[in-house]
Amino acid sequence: MKQELLFLSGNDIRQALSMREAIEAMRSAFIQLSSGEAQVALRTRLDLNGKDDCALFMPVYLPREEKVAVKTVTFLPNNPQKGLPAIHALVSVFDAANGQPLAVLDGEVLTALRTGAASGLATDLLAAEEAAVLALFGAGVQARTQFQAIRTVRPINKVLIVDTDEQKAQLLAEEIRSRFPHVAAESVSAEAAAAQAEIICTVTTSRQPVFQDSWLKQGVHINGVGSFRPDMQEIPAETVQRAALFVDSREACLQEPGDIIIPLQQGLIDKSHIRAEIGEVAAGRVAGRKKPDEITFFKSVGNGVQDLAAAAAAIRNAGKLKLGQKVTI
Ligand SMILES: NC(=O)c1ccc[n+]([C@@H]2O[C@H](COP(=O)([O-])OP(=O)(O)OC[C@H]3O[C@@H](n4cnc5c(N)ncnc54)[C@H](O)[C@@H]3O)[C@@H](O)[C@H]2O)c1
Repeated sequence: MKQELLFLSGNDIRQALSMREAIEAMRSAFIQLSSGEAQVALRTRLDLNGKDDCALFMPVYLPREEKVAVKTVTFLPNNPQKGLPAIHALVSVFDAANGQPLAVLDGEVLTALRTGAASGLATDLLAAEEAAVLALFGAGVQARTQFQAIRTVRPINKVLIVDTDEQKAQLLAEEIRSRFPHVAAESVSAEAAAAQAEIICTVTTSRQPVFQDSWLKQGVHINGVGSFRPDMQEIPAETVQRAALFVDSREACLQEPGDIIIPLQQGLIDKSHIRAEIGEVAAGRVAGRKKPDEITFFKSVGNGVQDLAAAAAAIRNAGKLKLGQKVTI
């Protein structure tokens, strides 16, 4: 029997899936992760070319979606010197009910969308309702979808941007001002950003904290996105210690990111400091913010459930909108 496979490019995905829909997909994804309904295998890494190059494989099964997927990512840090991106990614999706291949999606756009959407969900669940000032630490690929997601859930009218490469911060500020004239966006110092922010997203590749704990306003909500290895840290350990801590996955956050591992090793926190997974808050099983002046911190390292939930929603919408290319297998 003839089988059709759908290919969705980055542009197809952008057209098929709005940020609001991506945030709803993350709500469902994290609820399935925290309830144990989803099956997620540990990330497998293969080292390539005898250097720092590697390939990562992330398998996931979501019974509620009746779909199984694997995201394949290659990371060649020296690629930019050859005029190529450092990261390439594809997501392959199969129908779990009959085992047939369904679709292949561009993994870079999907990743940026689902990563922004996770911060959007956490912000919706944890930030003050009236929070309107956003600070972005890092003005790279992920910063764009962080802004999109946060403005989807809160009435953002000011964006303060910090990047060690000031030109990148200025470029993003211009981009935001030209698309959203009512939003005051500017490149500022780390201290100015931290002191005014009601919501912070850190999306850097930093190995040391990107702001000082003493600069923060009471009641700020922080989404920590960049740190995913023990030697990477964006958030000061003192901030983690005094914040109400929420994570995407307890298991991964206790093993991978310096943001959690460093305060654990310093004895500033123990495992019980994690108040909840975001999926437990989304399901209404654990309360989010308890007081207006509490600092809330959502640590995200990224999970395969996000890729599959976003892919499934994009595939559904692409069918209705007739987006993408079909090939016969
Ligand atoms: N949690 C997740 O699900 C998830 C998903 C995708 C990417 N990430 C991670 O997020 C991070 C950012 O990814 P990206 O694709 O935007 O990278 P990118 O390289 O496009 O942007 C990172 C930016 O951070 C800036 N920067 C580095 N150190 C800084 C500092 N101390 N202060 C301010 N700015 C600083 C860099 O100049 C750069 O502009 C990476 O570590 C990546 O692995 C996480």
